[in-house]
Amino acid sequence: PVVGVPMPHESAVQHVTGAALYTDDLVQRTKDVLHAYPVQVMSAHGRVTALRTGPALAVPGVIRVLTGADVPGVNDAGMKHDEPLFPDEVMFHGHAVAWVLGETLEAARLGAAAVEVELDELPSLVTLQDAIDAGSYHGARPMMVAGDVDAGFADSAHVFTGEFQFSGQEHFYLETHAALAQVDENGQVFIQSSTQHPSETQEIVAHVLGVPSHEVTVQCLRMGGGFGGKEMQPHGFAAIAALGAKLTGRPVRFRLNRTQDLTMSGKRHGFHATWKIGFDADGRIQALDATLTADGGWSLDLSEPVLARALCHIDNTYWIPNARVAGRIARTNTVSNTAFRGFGGPQGMLVIEDILGRCAPQLGLDPMELRERNFYRPGQGQTTPYGQPVTQAERISTVWQQVKDDACVADRKREIAAFNAAHPHTKRALAVTGIKFGISFNLTAFNQGGALVLIYKDGSVLINHGGTEMGQGLHTKMMQVAATTLGIPLHKVRLAPTRTDKVPNTSATAASSGADLNGGAIKNACEQLRERLLQVAASQLGANASDVRIVEGVARALGSDKELAWDDLVHTAYFQRVQLSAAGFYRTEGLHWDAKSFRGSPFKYFAHGAAATEVEVDRFTGAYRIRRVDIVHDVGDSLSPLIDIGQVEGGFVQGAGWLTLEDLRWDTGDGPNRGRLLTQAASTYKLPSFSEMPEEFNVTLLENATEEGAVYGSKAVGEPPLMLAFSVREALRQAAAAFGPAGAGVELASPATPEAVYWAIEEARRSM
Ligand code: MTE
Ligand code: MOS
Repeated sequence: PVVGVPMPHESAVQHVTGAALYTDDLVQRTKDVLHAYPVQVMSAHGRVTALRTGPALAVPGVIRVLTGADVPGVNDAGMKHDEPLFPDEVMFHGHAVAWVLGETLEAARLGAAAVEVELDELPSLVTLQDAIDAGSYHGARPMMVAGDVDAGFADSAHVFTGEFQFSGQEHFYLETHAALAQVDENGQVFIQSSTQHPSETQEIVAHVLGVPSHEVTVQCLRMGGGFGGKEMQPHGFAAIAALGAKLTGRPVRFRLNRTQDLTMSGKRHGFHATWKIGFDADGRIQALDATLTADGGWSLDLSEPVLARALCHIDNTYWIPNARVAGRIARTNTVSNTAFRGFGGPQGMLVIEDILGRCAPQLGLDPMELRERNFYRPGQGQTTPYGQPVTQAERISTVWQQVKDDACVADRKREIAAFNAAHPHTKRALAVTGIKFGISFNLTAFNQGGALVLIYKDGSVLINHGGTEMGQGLHTKMMQVAATTLGIPLHKVRLAPTRTDKVPNTSATAASSGADLNGGAIKNACEQLRERLLQVAASQLGANASDVRIVEGVARALGSDKELAWDDLVHTAYFQRVQLSAAGFYRTEGLHWDAKSFRGSPFKYFAHGAAATEVEVDRFTGAYRIRRVDIVHDVGDSLSPLIDIGQVEGGFVQGAGWLTLEDLRWDTGDGPNRGRLLTQAASTYKLPSFSEMPEEFNVTLLENATEEGAVYGSKAVGEPPLMLAFSVREALRQAAAAFGPAGAGVELASPATPEAVYWAIEEARRSM
């Protein structure tokens, strides 16, 4: 069987040799391309009173300046209709109000610099705290209620309150936003876009152009990373290229440079949380009352579903019998924050992990012990605060126990205690954290996938599906699923780029559900084809179709040694006029979600995992090293183990970057640069690199973990491992606390940069 066999990413060789094509590489293969360049306004907030394009048109090589007056359809780039594509109000520092088309990139750039914009400056809210103080919110205000919170607090032996603000994260995909649009002789628009959601890019482009969707085709070859940042943000950019192509009749491309990408596109939402938690005398959570405020930025984008996922994950692996959690979205004058790996889930889970990390010392419990005491327990009918039964609660303790054993946690804690006693200026700590992450889109309708599978007369197979490839290995998995279902070797299967004219109305490749949804659809299409071919084979082999199997490209009937090779079988089927193509479809059954009452069972299943991380911290600088990480992660029966291990490693490191290194800063002063993103290059925004990798990194996939009802027993893997990085943050907290009195805790800012760790050490030492 091809599914479950470890194999490299289908494009691995092209990735590392530079042969892989990305959207902007196609420009060199296209004639007469115009270059689009944004006119960014460097003010946090202001009304446009004049926009003079004349000076730009005087620049040699400038062909046209696109403004709101050019839009034939709707001047809006968002699904919430609050995102004017050409705004007359600048809503954040760097907001583009017009785009210049030039014969060369340089001409377009000079043209953009020549456009004159006059503004009436308006007051701006740059930080999340500014917006909270001003009561500036937009969108839904969900409220999740479980049990009786007041009774829960009344029953609590210990009640704590606190506040926590933590920052967002820049996607920093290697390939910045890019698109190339062309128009054919009939006015049909074809757009190559670096998008996780081609169908929605198509929809927005059609709205902007004022044409029906069948006049717009979107293709995504592959992305050089998306991480959620290309789930909704590409649409407006693609619409600019499409509009330019439509108006000039020439191909139009753009690719944001890094600083444009950083200053124009949305990021992970930073959050603010206030909380009150009650524990019984044994440290079991009785009640939680919390308010989560997400920094939505200037427009809603995906902030509502991100916030919903944050609320749905505040329980993480812990049973909270009584809860009241309110959510709000702050409206600030910054880029519009958007999806980012975990989609709000990490923010919700970080709140409860921070609470437990802070409360454990005050309860006199080891943090690991406090976490274990609060795990969901199997066989007790426990549900999440939004009412979904936790049906695999035993997995929470299974992965936890396994990682504790694999990492020799008990022995190493003793060694660490001895090390710390002997080293006044260096402390080590080892923390274990776990995860429970819901798989499916909260909105039930999105949980569908489509595919189109073609078998050619020579026996070769071409598969199309609605998912996009961003490096996560979805295409590799889909080829494995097709080969397995058809019973043929992998080399018989090729995959075509994702296109909206092959599979319509697709969902974003997001919520980690790419393989579940598209794999279900590919399998469905291949099963239809297999059934037809088995009939043909049966007649050729003189057997019943139910007795025929196709294995590794050979059809055989049970109890007979006659064989029929795949290519001959397909050839025969063609001459018998058997249809050799099939459309496949999949929808996830058993889901329901009521966004108003904030109750239901929105998830098909939960992904589980646990990580044990050891760090070492320096007293004088706060600098630290990740000495060792052990992970046990549950991917069901892995479709493709090498791919899955890569996802676990990459997700973990990206999570560690968010929590410990990556520090988004804006100019919050009242000067002319107010609202400017200060960290607008790799020189000021620190990403994890080889030097920050754990010195020892052991990733194990949980065995015997078949997930019934999912494609070939597999579970989604894309996002959940990011949250295993909580173990790094908790280890840093404990190492900082080790500079203080025995048993005392500390608060730790997020990101826990060396500077933040230094201040935590100072806090710990003050209580000595
Ligand atoms: N892995 C790589 N290499 N590049 C990416 O952009 N995106 C992540 C994750 N893993 C991403 C990645 C995100 S945010 C999601 S939702 C999933 O992949 C999407 O793909 P899947 O549904 O096929 O897992
Ligand atoms: Mo992933 S944040 O769901 O694209």
